[in-house]
Amino acid sequence: MKFKEQLRNALKNELSEDELENLPRGFQSISKVILIKIPQELYEKRKIIGMKCLAVNPKMDAVYLYGGKISGKFRTPENVEFLAGKDDPIVIHREHDVLYKFDITKIMFSKGNLKERKHLATLVQPGEVIIDMFAGIGYFSLPIGVHSEAKSIYSIELNPIAFAFLQENVELNRLGSKIVPIFGDCKEEVVKLSEKGIEADRIIMGVFPAPIEYIPSALSCVKDSGTIIHYEGVIERENYKSLFDEFEKVAVSKNFSCQLKSHRFVKSYGPKLYHVVFDIIVQKTRS
Ligand SMILES: C[S@@+](CC[C@H](N)C(=O)[O-])C[C@H]1O[C@@H](n2cnc3c(N)ncnc32)[C@H](O)[C@@H]1O
Repeated sequence: MKFKEQLRNALKNELSEDELENLPRGFQSISKVILIKIPQELYEKRKIIGMKCLAVNPKMDAVYLYGGKISGKFRTPENVEFLAGKDDPIVIHREHDVLYKFDITKIMFSKGNLKERKHLATLVQPGEVIIDMFAGIGYFSLPIGVHSEAKSIYSIELNPIAFAFLQENVELNRLGSKIVPIFGDCKEEVVKLSEKGIEADRIIMGVFPAPIEYIPSALSCVKDSGTIIHYEGVIERENYKSLFDEFEKVAVSKNFSCQLKSHRFVKSYGPKLYHVVFDIIVQKTRS
């Protein structure tokens, strides 16, 4: 029986016919936690819906209300509320042989980015030096560490809560010899790396909105032979190239050349909007 039908049966004595019609069709799960979106008109009934949701999914441990909105510089999930089961928001999510530990009420985790998390790791060549400028809990650094022969991955994160999980995740995945977690603002930390003589084969700039003001810092670690920068953003599909053009404008103004190697749309991000990633080869221009 489908989830909505099961939930409907479980709630038939608690909700009106109209309310039953508005029940969610499905849910997202992370580890043994159910994250469910409940429409505004059923908000008052959220606790009983949570309890019944758990009753029809007895293998799960807990149910949390999930607004689905991610906001602010730290990309924090909004309005995540415990509804039923065991109130323990710290999960260990296993994906593609990587363990991600985090607090679902404080840290975002987009299952829609799974393909991109897997894909980036396949691009990495043995011996590469990588800088992950917006590392979070290790969304990209961990799969690269597990699935590639990168030499070192410098993972920079500014949110102290995410940073603490990043450190734990490095240990959990036994990547202490490859990943160097750095706490701080990547705008400054990446320049400090360049001052130590570190040059990157690959730089990941994975944050929304497109981190245009961080491009000059990223350029400080570009190698003479060229560096691949993975630059992300959210944009209308037909207008996607304008994000690359913006990147190129900044790079050219700092005497770097850019070649757009490839791009991909990771997921839909609201009406007409898409999460896009560019793979850009950047090189210092000879003067
Ligand atoms: C949530 S991740 C996005 C990861 C990836 N795009 C995804 O969706 O799976 C972005 C991270 O960048 C961090 N961040 C934002 N500004 C930063 C800065 N200036 N320096 C370092 N980290 C920063 C945020 O705290 C957040 O953890």
